[in-house]
Amino acid sequence: MAFKRFSRRQFGRLAGWSALGMSMLSAKSSTAQSDQATGTQNQRLSSDFPSGFLWGTATSAYQVEGAVNEDGRGPSIWDRFAHTPGTIADNSNGDTAANHYHLYKEDIRLMKELGTKAYRFSIAWPRVFPEGAGSPNPKGLDFYKRLIDELSANGIEPFVTLYHWDLPQALQDRVGGWTSRDTPKAFADYAAHVAKHLGDRVRHFFTINECSRLVHLGHGLGADAPGLKLPQSGLNQVRHHVALGHGLAVQAIRAHGRAGTKVGPAENAVSCIPAIETPPNIRAAEMATRELNAGYLTVMLEGKYTEAYLARSGQDAPKFTADDLRVISSPIDFVGLNVYMPDHYVVAADNERGFTLAPFPASFPHMKASWLRPGPEAIYWVPRHVAKLWNVKSIYITENGTSGSDQPAPDGTIYDVDRIMYLRNYLTQLQRATSEGVPVLGYFLWSLMDNFEWSDGYEQRFGIYHVDFNTKRRTPKLSASFYRETIARNAVV
Ligand code: BGC
Repeated sequence: MAFKRFSRRQFGRLAGWSALGMSMLSAKSSTAQSDQATGTQNQRLSSDFPSGFLWGTATSAYQVEGAVNEDGRGPSIWDRFAHTPGTIADNSNGDTAANHYHLYKEDIRLMKELGTKAYRFSIAWPRVFPEGAGSPNPKGLDFYKRLIDELSANGIEPFVTLYHWDLPQALQDRVGGWTSRDTPKAFADYAAHVAKHLGDRVRHFFTINECSRLVHLGHGLGADAPGLKLPQSGLNQVRHHVALGHGLAVQAIRAHGRAGTKVGPAENAVSCIPAIETPPNIRAAEMATRELNAGYLTVMLEGKYTEAYLARSGQDAPKFTADDLRVISSPIDFVGLNVYMPDHYVVAADNERGFTLAPFPASFPHMKASWLRPGPEAIYWVPRHVAKLWNVKSIYITENGTSGSDQPAPDGTIYDVDRIMYLRNYLTQLQRATSEGVPVLGYFLWSLMDNFEWSDGYEQRFGIYHVDFNTKRRTPKLSASFYRETIARNAVV
């Protein structure tokens, strides 16, 4: 829905900002590698990723699994929301989605064909606790055990997201979902249970996928489940509870996972790109990054809300304790970043904030989805800012990709050269980051296959495998070959 898409740009505005100073980064030449590119060998070398770079794909439970009424799964807020008339562009829902629940072995074969070594998927909380809390449903985790064992048998490492927005409906009904402090507590119990039972199989956990979207679209704009439109004070409180849920889950994973288990968030940080790569603009983009993510990565990594965020919120500021902040900032092992586009181009300014957010001209291009503006340099700057601002040593790109119109040509092939163009340019910028020492360890392409794209239903296809949603047949798009080739060469192709 256009409504939803427009709203992605509003995350930053709702977060607040100021001109708190950060140390200045030295400018780095954006053309560092172009000088080398004279001979074939140099070109190859300049486009390599670090050895051992982890290539993967990503999905989430409600978007691919289907089987919503099987093996004791309880309803989630997305079942309820998608079945509410007027919420989903094509009036669809995730009841059967891509049927990954039953076709997971076939899907793992596809991953293997690509040469990926990692798969990021999410666990449906209502499969494990159909009522959100209380008695677990053992069949829920059994599915994930089968999935993980099949991945392991194929040399693919599981990266597990605990929460990709499918809150058990029972928790929404009983306590008001994320509006209540009971939900972060229930989330921690669920995380502990998962860590206890999957800890022998899983070494990497992500706590919450995109806190900012679930807060704003789910609770501010009503465009995502549970479809609430809370006033600012309520929204700020939800944001705090979600951050608290993240911190409690980190602690639960630490307490119940095997020694060496790693955990971190998977956040779509508001991306702030220096409009022109000069030292003042780079510094301004760092300051903007810190302020526009105040309720998310900043509080998780600094253990405090910025003064500007609290001042801006005024009477609507969240209610919290010092202990909450300690929990929220529990040490993490890595930061996962979903990077799709530039949210803001930033110019240094002599004003209170220290920066200006350049308005997007109407002529700025977009991909098939009108909200998805291609700005490949986002995938360079976001991890670089995160590493610099908070001294983060391990970063994963947990999502990146685009939807496309994906029409088959007369020969039956989907020549999705728009997606290939997008991916090639983003990967070029990601390689620029790794070659400069930004600690990005891996990349998860969104998505392995077409799936239920939330309020856009099945109208936006993000997969590199096409899914016929009637037959559930998977067919590679040309971008699957592009990705296979990239992985095989460990270089931008
Ligand atoms: C979400 C995915 C979604 C993708 C494309 C991210 O916001 O994590 O679930 O499908 O973007 O919109």
